[in-house]
Amino acid sequence: MESMETKGVALVTGSGRGIGLACARELARRGFDVCLNCSSAVSLERTAGAAEAIAQEFGVRAHAVAADVSDADAAKAMVDEAVQTLGRLDVLVNNAGITRDGLIARMNPEDFDAVVDVNLNGTFNCCKAAAKVMMKQRSGRIINMSSVVGVAGNAGQVNYAASKAGVIGITKSLAKELARRSITVNAVAPGFISTDMTDALTEEQREAIAGRIGLGRFGEAEDVAALVGFLASPEAAYITGQVISVDGGLAI
Ligand SMILES: NC(=O)c1ccc[n+]([C@@H]2O[C@H](COP(=O)([O-])OP(=O)(O)OC[C@H]3O[C@@H](n4cnc5c(N)ncnc54)[C@H](O)[C@@H]3O)[C@@H](O)[C@H]2O)c1
Repeated sequence: MESMETKGVALVTGSGRGIGLACARELARRGFDVCLNCSSAVSLERTAGAAEAIAQEFGVRAHAVAADVSDADAAKAMVDEAVQTLGRLDVLVNNAGITRDGLIARMNPEDFDAVVDVNLNGTFNCCKAAAKVMMKQRSGRIINMSSVVGVAGNAGQVNYAASKAGVIGITKSLAKELARRSITVNAVAPGFISTDMTDALTEEQREAIAGRIGLGRFGEAEDVAALVGFLASPEAAYITGQVISVDGGLAI
C-alpha cells in the first residue's frame, strides 16, 4: 500500500495478540505509525511479524519492541526506542495485562503481586516514561485498559480487580496533572471480550456470563479497539479523566 501522511506515533503495550493487536491495527488504519510491544525476546519475532504485516496492510511505519512493562527500566527503554525509531510519541495505550484468578483463601501473595506488578505498576511505569516525552511536546493521549471488574469487582479476582481499580485511580489523577499540557488520559473498561484471556473460561462459565450481558454475547477485540481509536482521534480532544465501558450492557 502507498504510504500516507502520518497522524502521529502510537505505542501499544502487550500488542502481540488480542485487544492490544486489534488496537495497534485500528490506530494504523487511522494513519498512526505504531510501535508494538511484547513482554520478552521469546515472542519478539512473532510480534515483529505482526508489525511488518500492519506496515504492509496500512502503509504506515511499524516497529516492535520486547519489554516487560513491570520493569521500570525496560518500560523507559521501550518508550525511548519508540521515540528514537519513529520520531515522537503521540499515543500510549497501556494494554498489557495478566490474570491469576482464585478465591482469596487460595490466592498466594505471589499471585496478588504478579498481577499488580504487570497491570498497575506496568501502567505507572509506561505513563511515567511517556508523560516525560508528551509534556515536552505539549500534546498526547494516554489510554489505559481497565476493566468492568475494576469498577464492579468480581469473585475470584481480588488481585485483578485491585489492579484495574488502581488503573482508574492513575487515569483520573494523571488527567488532572497533565491537562494543562494538552495531554488527555482516559480509561477503557471492557466487559467480557473473546481473547486468549477469556479462552480459559469453561463453556458453562461462558454461557452463565453471556446470560448477564445485555447483548447476550461476548465482545470482540475490535469492539474495544474502535473506542481506543476514537480516543486517539482529534474528535476526542476534549475528553479526559473518563472511564468508558465497552461491555455490551453488562454493567448497567
Ligand atoms: N479479554 C477480556 O475480556 C478483557 C476484559 C477487560 C479487560 N481486559 C484487559 O485488556 C487487556 C488485553 O487483554 P486480552 O484480553 O487481549 O488478553 P491477552 O492475554 O490476549 O493479551 C495480553 C497481552 O499482554 C501481554 N503481556 C502480559 N504481560 C506483559 C508484560 N509484563 N509486559 C508486556 N506485555 C505483557 C501478553 O503477552 C499479551 O500479548 C488486558 O489489560 C486485560 O486485563 C480484557
